[in-house]
Amino acid sequence: MKRATRVAGWLYDRAGIAPLHRFIREHKIPPGVGRTRKGWFYVFGPALLFVFLLQVVTGTALALHYIPSPVHAWDSLQHLNAEVAWGGFVRGLHFFGASAMVVLVFAHMARVFLTGSYKYPRELNWISGVVLLYLVMAMAFTGQLLRWDEDGVSTVAVAASIAARTPVLGEPLRELILRGDSIGGGTLTAFYALHVIVLPLLIFAVIGIHIYLVLRNGVSEPPEAGRPVDPRTYRSWYRKHRTEGGSTYWPDAAGREMIFVAVVYTIIFVSALVFGPQGPGPPPDPAALEAIPDPDWFFLWYYSLIWYKPPVLDELVLLWLPLLLVPVLLALPVAFGAGERAPSRRPWAVFLVAGSFTIWLTLTAVGMRPYWVPDFETRPPDAAVVAEAPPDARLGSQVFFQRGCQYCHAVLGSGGSYGPDLTRTALRLPPEEITVRIIMGIGNMPAYQGVLSTQEIEVMLAYLRWAAEAAETDGIGGR
Ligand code: HEC
Repeated sequence: MKRATRVAGWLYDRAGIAPLHRFIREHKIPPGVGRTRKGWFYVFGPALLFVFLLQVVTGTALALHYIPSPVHAWDSLQHLNAEVAWGGFVRGLHFFGASAMVVLVFAHMARVFLTGSYKYPRELNWISGVVLLYLVMAMAFTGQLLRWDEDGVSTVAVAASIAARTPVLGEPLRELILRGDSIGGGTLTAFYALHVIVLPLLIFAVIGIHIYLVLRNGVSEPPEAGRPVDPRTYRSWYRKHRTEGGSTYWPDAAGREMIFVAVVYTIIFVSALVFGPQGPGPPPDPAALEAIPDPDWFFLWYYSLIWYKPPVLDELVLLWLPLLLVPVLLALPVAFGAGERAPSRRPWAVFLVAGSFTIWLTLTAVGMRPYWVPDFETRPPDAAVVAEAPPDARLGSQVFFQRGCQYCHAVLGSGGSYGPDLTRTALRLPPEEITVRIIMGIGNMPAYQGVLSTQEIEVMLAYLRWAAEAAETDGIGGR
């Protein structure tokens, strides 16, 4: 015991841990952040820090085995999954840790926004937080490509083609993302460097600034309706408020933060144990007709938006929305730096958060439904139904199935719904027009020129014609 005290004393003296230790114990927090129910809203930020540390540890462990080259990346992950002790588990931790970071970063942001904590004097806390938000999303995005499977590669391919639409800078931007004309070794190396060196260093630096600012300006007190922020008096009022009714960071706030961190860690560890690592999925296929990404869940909402928006909104959704979001987020604390903080006095703020969350949830749910991507699980049309068709139409139904049309199109009630239901198309379009659409492709429909023989198209036309008539007379399937 005595020796322990001596070692501690030595460390206190040489490393100056005493002030830090005292600081944590004595740092004042305003009333309401300590042991009240409202204090629970303040745990997301600290939890982010701890999950980030978990990501650093698991990420470092993974980097020891991962090979960042298109030829070896996928195999090295399989190797990690199957042969390295705890490899799959650590990959699971890293994936669910990433998921937790995305959830927490938005929860933290929503809390800060709802309690108006971005207002004077904490504008820079918010701005550094926005930078962290983008850095975290950039980590999630670059990490996805490192898996080097079909989904990761096509997700980045789509992102690059979106970036290419930026006015003036489009093409250079695309080449900057891909480090060349198309996704390849250069892209992977660049994403790897970003993911393991550049972005983590930036995150460390900005977290440092962010925490410094929290300490300098103090934790925001829980808002109260009718107590607006007035920049002229706020600081002196806050100091008094904190001294009079406040408590200390340790153990009041720190204690519950530890509880929350333990809960988050438990969820991550259990998820990694139960669900294991994420992928890698099938390796990328350069010959794939059409790259249809199935991104990690944190980007699903955006890709749902891409596929579902009407074409006239292309520019708006793909370009202006993400571009304008940055200045809007950065300008927020400057534009609304004073005034009421309480959510009850800022209904539009509550509405904005609730609205964004609902839209996000809807888009994610829509993205998770199999039909927004081709449905590779569809079965051939019901044999009993097709049995009544004339021979060429029956043959057509087989071609339709073998050629994968039913991944995207339903006919007579079976098939995916990525593309329109084709049951009654033959009533609406003459055969030549249908042929043109199949050969040339249209919108998100791939072109089949040179893929299908004339004969195959003929029998499919017969099939569609028969299906339309059958649907009309028997009222089965279709719209
Ligand atoms: C990757 C998914 C996908 C596959 C596979 C696919 N299609 Fe399509 N198809 C679409 C989409 C999406 C549209 C709607 C395009 C648009 O209007 O923007 C479409 C449109 C069509 C249309 C026009 C429908 C109309 O009402 O205008 C026809 C006909 C058609 N497809 C036939 C086929 C045939 C035949 C095959 C198989 C050789 C096939 N498609 C394979 C996605 C697909």
